[in-house]
Amino acid sequence: MTIGIMNGPNLGRLGKRVPEVYGSETLTDLEERLRGAFPGAKLEFFQSNHEGALIDCLERWHGSGIRDVVLNAGALTHQSYALRDALEGLELRFVEVHISNVYRREPFRAHSLLAPVAVGQISGLGLRGYELAVRFLLDV
Ligand code: DQA
Repeated sequence: MTIGIMNGPNLGRLGKRVPEVYGSETLTDLEERLRGAFPGAKLEFFQSNHEGALIDCLERWHGSGIRDVVLNAGALTHQSYALRDALEGLELRFVEVHISNVYRREPFRAHSLLAPVAVGQISGLGLRGYELAVRFLLDV
């Protein structure tokens, strides 16, 4: 079983972007952290600022047999019907992750278009959220 770890717009700048909200660790740190925490697991990583590139990647992953995804779609969480349709249409089992607690921030962040088709959601636990999501997908 391979798990896809997908990050959407602006998450490529993790570590530099609003560190008081998103912390000082980078996407490379996240990858090292997950590979270290789950040495036996097959993990694939992808980040893009583009909605279509994310959907293309989901289709590619689906084609190669990946059915489990940890997804931080960034702001696309709140606005992308296309990403939601892709996740639903490909019947992917995914955990929606947010580094920050989206319910304590601006009201627009409290609405997720993706959550209704996700297996669950983790919000506000920092990078630990990705780790817990991988643990869940491996266990269940
Ligand atoms: C985020 C929260 C989103 O509202 C925001 O647009 C992001 C990051 C988070 O990880 O907390 O880009 O998904």
